Amino acid sequence: MAKPSPSVIEHYEALKQQIEYHSKCYYLENSQEIPDAEFDRLFADLLQIEAQYPALVMPDSPSQRVGAEPLTEFESVTHELPMLSLDNAFGSEDMLAFDKRVRDRLKTEEAIEYACEPKFDGIAVSILYRDGNLQRAATRGDGSTGENITQNVRTIQSVPLKLRGDKIPAVLEVRGEVYMPHEGFAKLNQTVASRGDKVFVNPRNAAAGSLRQLDSRITAARPLECCVYSVGYVEGALPDTHLAILQVLSDWGFLVSDLRQSVMAAAGCEEYYQFLAAQRAQLPYDIDGIVFKVNRIDLQQQLGAVSRAPRWAIAHKFPAQEEITQLREVEFQVGRTGAITPVARLEPIFVGGVTVSNASLHNRDEIERLALKVGDFVVVRRAGDVIPQIVSVVHSRRPEQVFDIEFPSQCPVCQSDLVKVEGETIIRCTGGLVCAAQRKQAIKHFASRHAMDIEGLGDKLVEQLVDLDCVQSPADLYRLNAEQISQLERMGKKSAENLIAALQTSCATRLDRFLYALGIREVGQATAKNLASYFGSLEALQAASEEALQSVPDVGPVVAKFIAEFFCNANNLAVISALRENGVHWPDVAPATSLELPLEGKTYVITGTLASMDRNTAKEQLQALGAKVAGSVSAKTSALVAGANAGSKLSKAEDLGIDILDEAALVNLLKECEEAS
Ligand code: IVH
Repeated sequence: MAKPSPSVIEHYEALKQQIEYHSKCYYLENSQEIPDAEFDRLFADLLQIEAQYPALVMPDSPSQRVGAEPLTEFESVTHELPMLSLDNAFGSEDMLAFDKRVRDRLKTEEAIEYACEPKFDGIAVSILYRDGNLQRAATRGDGSTGENITQNVRTIQSVPLKLRGDKIPAVLEVRGEVYMPHEGFAKLNQTVASRGDKVFVNPRNAAAGSLRQLDSRITAARPLECCVYSVGYVEGALPDTHLAILQVLSDWGFLVSDLRQSVMAAAGCEEYYQFLAAQRAQLPYDIDGIVFKVNRIDLQQQLGAVSRAPRWAIAHKFPAQEEITQLREVEFQVGRTGAITPVARLEPIFVGGVTVSNASLHNRDEIERLALKVGDFVVVRRAGDVIPQIVSVVHSRRPEQVFDIEFPSQCPVCQSDLVKVEGETIIRCTGGLVCAAQRKQAIKHFASRHAMDIEGLGDKLVEQLVDLDCVQSPADLYRLNAEQISQLERMGKKSAENLIAALQTSCATRLDRFLYALGIREVGQATAKNLASYFGSLEALQAASEEALQSVPDVGPVVAKFIAEFFCNANNLAVISALRENGVHWPDVAPATSLELPLEGKTYVITGTLASMDRNTAKEQLQALGAKVAGSVSAKTSALVAGANAGSKLSKAEDLGIDILDEAALVNLLKECEEAS
């Protein structure tokens, strides 16, 4: 066996130190600095060197234990059986190799049955029951010794305090993951932020922080869930497959993933992986991969375990949603309503399946919260189709030279003053349509599909028209002639004529589209529709008091104020009359004295995974039609919308005899209401 060179030894020692440092942050201090993917890479590098030079492996290597020493504040607990970790697979080749290893060891050519379930991104716990009573709960700690967190785990609603049912073993230790679902995480962070405290960077950190509270009353107020996925020490009989065990656990009262499934061979695993990867962004909690386990317990026993992981299971990780990259600079963009948004320009990085080079920093408070400086290494997160975010700064990697981020005091586009409205975090340019940036955004919005729908007037064209001073306000669009337009880049005679024709066509519009196109703050399509049907004409709307405006569904005091202010502004009134002089028109309709929305008085609950939209969109659409959307099923629920893999809410609705809509029925309902209104 080759002897390691001094440079290999040096690299190995450095890796060890880094891994130790980051395990301590993660396991002991709840202050994860680097993304999991980065940690996995460090660990994989270490394992690779150790495989090549086994003589280097000392008992203190991170490969010889998982995690770090438990904190001293909680009592220590020695696990009856060690809590193992899992080997990772990062692609289908790794999965094929795993399946082959399993069959080779079992000396079989036959296809293996695997149990598949999500890999929850939370905190592993062990919960011990004696005669069906919850007796003790512990964290994993270093795998053999954890912390006693019984009081905290008892506060989690999905953890049964007493098991119910038949054939409950005299002693039963279950293992599972405690995590915080997205909805609860968002609410918790809102509360934390409104107190001026530091927000949690992700649901896992929030779950970890909540579990290690010494005061379990704090834990009780946190929205935690616990899904169990295996058993540890048992005195008594259990079924002979993993999935049958999960079923009895579910029968005894545990939360067990309803996404669990049986598949055959590596091909079945691959298919399940694709299936769940497609649903990942819509799931109500974070998962970071899939765990595949040999389903038959006798085969699991034959396969056994190597030091830190069983040979019969593997975690197929999803592409990382968090990665590290460097902040090159910060630019300030001006939005349609003048909001100044700092945008991070990043060293391009592949994360969440795409290359990311920009991320929104939202506002000045966010920069302060992150304590961010130009040159810093940052953790970037991109989940599904969500806009990339900077979650945190890797303080341990701050370069010697970093630069403060100067928030401008004047608009970077028009040099007008900036203002910060009391109680708002957003800083705005006061330039209005004088500001070229706001003008561009306002005109793009005016021309967009759900507004005036001016076909062919794309973003690039609007930018040129504003930059060349051809267009000051939306009204100027209707004064353009084909000759002017054909002077612009990439515009021939024909496309110029087409655009003129499209402008003409757009003149005949509807009041609600026109109102939406004006870009009044907080007046989206649904509100514009309600305003149009309530007042019937622009004149009636303009004459309405703030009080009268609030009789319109969906319009509260804030929106009413924005609408009233908009129609008091002389500039806006001038634009409106110029638009009408230039031919923009719509039919007035009879005002509705009382506006009854089609789903007024109805209450819906949404559960499971929807394929054609996310649950939030479904919620907003139902609400725009007047419905209430509640979080839990009760006798007052009008109907339950049940997507794929609906769980306990579906059974409750069935028990209560409540109407159940599948996704197709929901889409139909939305369409019908839309057509009727
Ligand atoms: S089974 C011996 N199943 O992943 C097998 N683990 O990297 C032990 N995890 O410590 C684990 N979801 O915290 C298993 N469905 C699942 C899981 C899961 C999440 C976590 C668990 C474990 C870690 C291993």
